[in-house]
Amino acid sequence: MKIAILGYGTVGRGTYDILQERKNRLEDQVELEVKKVLMLEKEVATCGLDKALVSTDYQEILDDPEIECIVEVTGAKKQGFLFMKEALEAKKHVVTANKAVVSKHFSELNDLADRYQVHFLYEAAVGGGIPILTPLKSQALLNNIDSIEGILNGTCNYILSNMQTKAWGYEETLKKAQDLGFAEADPTDDVEGFDTLRKLVILSSIAQNILVNEDEVALEGISNLGLEDVAYFKDQDLKVKLLASYGKKGDDSYSLIVEPVLIGRDHPLYNVDGETNAITLHGHNVDQLTFMGPGAGKYPTGNAVVCDLIDVARGSDLPLKFGDKTQSAENNIQAAYYISSDQDLNLPEDWFSNEGEKIDGHRARTKALPRDSVIGTLENLRKAGQKIFFARLG
Ligand code: HSE
Repeated sequence: MKIAILGYGTVGRGTYDILQERKNRLEDQVELEVKKVLMLEKEVATCGLDKALVSTDYQEILDDPEIECIVEVTGAKKQGFLFMKEALEAKKHVVTANKAVVSKHFSELNDLADRYQVHFLYEAAVGGGIPILTPLKSQALLNNIDSIEGILNGTCNYILSNMQTKAWGYEETLKKAQDLGFAEADPTDDVEGFDTLRKLVILSSIAQNILVNEDEVALEGISNLGLEDVAYFKDQDLKVKLLASYGKKGDDSYSLIVEPVLIGRDHPLYNVDGETNAITLHGHNVDQLTFMGPGAGKYPTGNAVVCDLIDVARGSDLPLKFGDKTQSAENNIQAAYYISSDQDLNLPEDWFSNEGEKIDGHRARTKALPRDSVIGTLENLRKAGQKIFFARLG
């Protein structure tokens, strides 16, 4: 199968290198040949590839009947979607790592692949190098999946782990994650939780075979976390993680929440540190499964792309068939929260009866409360100019 790689950044290079490095071994099973690599004019001189391989014109790739499969790894949102749409309409298979596009246009891209009878795969979009979507598709056929919990962003987990274990500052640690190639072009997508949210949308849509919308997910990122918060967590023998949670609540309802969560040593994700990602899910036949591995980076993500290419070449993937059924999330769970502010923190007195406690004038741990009332109050404090960090007690 002849392939065009769109984008020659971290993931594009990782994909290309693995295909070259494993060429002899792959040839025994499948024929995968990169015919073109699409890049910007300004990248051509320094890309290090044979000029015959390079293209700066997508139309040339679309018009080439020999190219059967597009690997979209540009990371671009609008352009990435157009590339994929046009490729599917030209009856070419699409493999992508672009979680933003898959999450936002899941239904449309899936329908196009179905209409034109081509493959559309995106294993690299969730969990970097972890094989999760391919096994999840078959587990979802066999199980009622009633919960998923995951650390889905390598950049955030790298920041949180290093702030906690090495007391590195937030900005310094984010810069290191960027230098290591983990972060998105705009790291706001990482630290404000958007990247995690998109991955949760993809996972939960597959898990229940019902399309989930991005705006159903309750979202809070990690950018307001300070070293004083982290020192308190360490003192309490807790770790803070940005967790994505999907939980089934009866037949017709579920919760979808991305927010910082404080977990103890007995939690299955407690030892998942650095850029590592992990996902636990519960299904009625299989009980609990945990998937863990590198969540970002050139070769782990390139490896996931090549796994999809093998499935496309062999025609062995399990296509999704979303029905028309829709549901909407109900995120008003009951939970206790750790809250800190850069100013005096005045919270309702009845948030502290029984197990809640005021740690000092600007930090507190509440008792279990309806999430909506906590978030509503904190939003008002933010509107009044306070810098607030909060984390759920897991
Ligand atoms: N920026 C993403 C992360 C890359 O840090 O997890 C992998 O999706």
